[in-house]
Amino acid sequence: VTDAVETARFMAMKGAGYYSKVTVSARDAIDAATPSVIEAVHRLPIGDDGSPVRVADLGCADGGTSIGLWHQVLTALRQRVPGRAIEIVYTDLPQNDFSQLFRMLHGQTDIESYYGKIPNIYPFASATSFHQAIFPPSSLHLAFSAHASHYISKVPCPISEHVHMVGATEAERAAYEQTGSLEWERLLGLRARELVPGGRLCMLSFGIDEDGHYVGHTGGVSVFDTFNTLWRQLADEGGITHDEYLRTNFPQVFRTTEQFTAPLHDEKSDVRAAGLRLESIEWRIQECPFARSFKEHRDPERFAREYVPTLRSWSEPTFANGLSPDRSPHERLAVLDGFYGRYGQLVAKDPEGHKMDLVDILMTCVRE
Ligand SMILES: C[S@@+](CC[C@H](N)C(=O)[O-])C[C@H]1O[C@@H](n2cnc3c(N)ncnc32)[C@H](O)[C@@H]1O
Repeated sequence: VTDAVETARFMAMKGAGYYSKVTVSARDAIDAATPSVIEAVHRLPIGDDGSPVRVADLGCADGGTSIGLWHQVLTALRQRVPGRAIEIVYTDLPQNDFSQLFRMLHGQTDIESYYGKIPNIYPFASATSFHQAIFPPSSLHLAFSAHASHYISKVPCPISEHVHMVGATEAERAAYEQTGSLEWERLLGLRARELVPGGRLCMLSFGIDEDGHYVGHTGGVSVFDTFNTLWRQLADEGGITHDEYLRTNFPQVFRTTEQFTAPLHDEKSDVRAAGLRLESIEWRIQECPFARSFKEHRDPERFAREYVPTLRSWSEPTFANGLSPDRSPHERLAVLDGFYGRYGQLVAKDPEGHKMDLVDILMTCVRE
């Protein structure tokens, strides 16, 4: 395997179905958001005129975590417009494991698919970033996106003493927030133009709630601080270089309610000019299923074994990207295995307080 291939493999969520297998809480959070998306379907101003209807899943990864949502949402849409073909477009970055997505949809994995159970459904994929235009103007009826909009297209600066903007210095954090706000406004403006009048955008996004909580940071042991401590330890011991430590920055911005809603409230924003209006907004916390089950089984080794893969499924690309391109694929894997191994040892030794609760904001917008 060449380095280029190896890097590409690491850039998206961990492939070959690993992501949805270990990301139980993302699926739980998406399932919990499903009634709101069905409500949006009921409000779509569409008639049964025979033309195709288009829906999209933006930042779908391997599609496994949203399959239950789409089963229900497509069923609701099918009932509303029995005579219209439905196109469902799955989007993610080019490096995403799209073949896993289609294997799953077509019943070649152990995940149950809606395909073949609801008539007249046509799945497609797009590997165009959601920071760019994906669909022709006024051609999208409903878009759903989960746990993806916190990804910015590039990091504005290295974070000197941490790996995530939540632990950055004031100036560094301001740079991330500025990129975050520009890209959020642009993303909403792009979607507003793609939606048909009356079309709905349902975004389930990681953010910072009014208690200052965010994913992996809800009291107890903070996931991002632990990542930083262990990565820093590796740098101090010479397991990675100081340069690699500095190059490791999550390309993510967690936004507050004010930051999420600013372009929708600002009368002069491009988003408002494009006709997008906020219909509903609510915060939700999805409890960590591994910490919950640890409370019952009380086996620290088992907890570590079950919990750490869920962290690895989404964080590994960032740590892999921080490593020097001169390292061989074998070396990279050894560093990463060692790093997550340490996380596991920490949890097994002192399990209390470890958890990754999801902190999500669910926003539904309508294009007027
Ligand atoms: C944490 S996963 C979420 C997957 C799934 N939606 C869920 O909630 O379980 C984030 C996904 O967003 C994708 N992503 C990140 N930046 C993106 C972009 N600019 N355009 C499209 N997808 C992106 C990643 O590749 C990844 O598959």
